Amino acid sequence: MARAEVIGGIDIGSHKICTLLAEATPEGHLRILGVGVEPARGIRKGLIDNIQQATEAISASVEKAERASGNRMPPAVVNVSGQHLSSLNHKGVATLTGGQHLIQPQDVQRAMEDARSVSIPSDRELLHVIPRGFLLDGQNPVSDPVGMYGQRLDVEAHLVTANATAVQNLARCLDKAGVRVVALVAAPLASAEAVLEDEEKRQGVVVVDIGGGTTDVAVFLDGSPYYTASLPVGGYNFTHDLVYGLRVPFSVAEELKVSHGAALVSRVNQDDAVEVESFGGHRRKLIPRKEIVRILQARAEEVLEMVYSEVKRAQFDVMLAAGLVLTGGVASLPGLDELAEQLLGIPVRVGFPKGVHGMADVVGTPAFATGVGLLRWGLTLEGLRYRPIRQGSSIWGRITNWLKLLIPQ
Ligand SMILES: Nc1ncnc2c1ncn2[C@@H]1O[C@H](COP(=O)(O)OP(=O)(O)OP(=O)(O)O)[C@@H](O)[C@H]1O
Ligand SMILES: [Mg+2]
Repeated sequence: MARAEVIGGIDIGSHKICTLLAEATPEGHLRILGVGVEPARGIRKGLIDNIQQATEAISASVEKAERASGNRMPPAVVNVSGQHLSSLNHKGVATLTGGQHLIQPQDVQRAMEDARSVSIPSDRELLHVIPRGFLLDGQNPVSDPVGMYGQRLDVEAHLVTANATAVQNLARCLDKAGVRVVALVAAPLASAEAVLEDEEKRQGVVVVDIGGGTTDVAVFLDGSPYYTASLPVGGYNFTHDLVYGLRVPFSVAEELKVSHGAALVSRVNQDDAVEVESFGGHRRKLIPRKEIVRILQARAEEVLEMVYSEVKRAQFDVMLAAGLVLTGGVASLPGLDELAEQLLGIPVRVGFPKGVHGMADVVGTPAFATGVGLLRWGLTLEGLRYRPIRQGSSIWGRITNWLKLLIPQ
């Protein structure tokens, strides 16, 4: 039996850098072999702001995962994060010659090439070209045109671009850290890959990954991505509000948020209070828990309203039948899902990474959504190399599988 290949993912976050090593099980699941988490350094709001520090943090994270798993780091799937991410949907067409033309993968490739031929400014890098759906002869929607007859094939593709300098600086850090990269994936799409169900993607859903410095947003409709964006706000802002509101050091505020925080003041007992160290360290003071939660709720409402405006910008607010899935580290704030449901009036759930075996207590938490999503992305890439496309995988999955083969993502 062929030896299972090791898949590597590196989530370069603003709060933590996390390297995951895993192998694919025969059922197409991931078995985690090693995890290396390192506090982020040299990264601000998803962007590299200090090459040296970021390189060191990436190297440390990779070394930890290598040591934990006993494997060398394979070529890795890595996220691209930050406000510079942007998306658009663009159509492409391929004219098929001959009366009864049997559509081949190359014909789909031609339609996809046409879709990606939109002019992209020289300071932008094209990260993804993902098919959203096909139209045969200008009228019949099909999900997988290969093997069908037709005279003209239209495709709608979701294109994600990133600032070229941001990508170059990321690549420089990875290169200096000795990491070879097999694919770069926009962070919102990686998180979506980890936490969304196919049914939610079909019905219309928005996934919101609130991390340390960014809030990643991806909207899915008809099974594929429709809108991808990232906002420059995250858990760091929640902590900062506590520093100012309660006049406590950052480390104390962070501890208060994680251990005593919540998103709904109405759920907090009137008498609950927490004793903390104030600035200077020699005096202690008692802070009512209601005060902590009031500050966090205000920030949570602001972030959720920003997400709502972003989704509205995509002219999408009426089509989200499956609602909103919250993930990322901040999704662990108790009551955030309930607050979002009250505020936005749509179903909200917290998204946990799925399809992973081993170390689920660590990688099964919302903070690992992007990391697990990168591995799942790698699974489809690896799948091309050493085994036929899985039976029973979604049609979109199968199409993207062989498109990944044809078109660099
Ligand atoms: N229980 C909790 N309650 C509230 N916030 C939490 C909790 N646990 C973690 N966080 C916050 O989540 C944030 C980190 O989330 P995550 O690990 O997803 O960030 P990241 O991926 O490194 O950053 P980004 O994606 O923004 O670049 C931190 O601000 C942290 O304080
Ligand atoms: Mg993140």
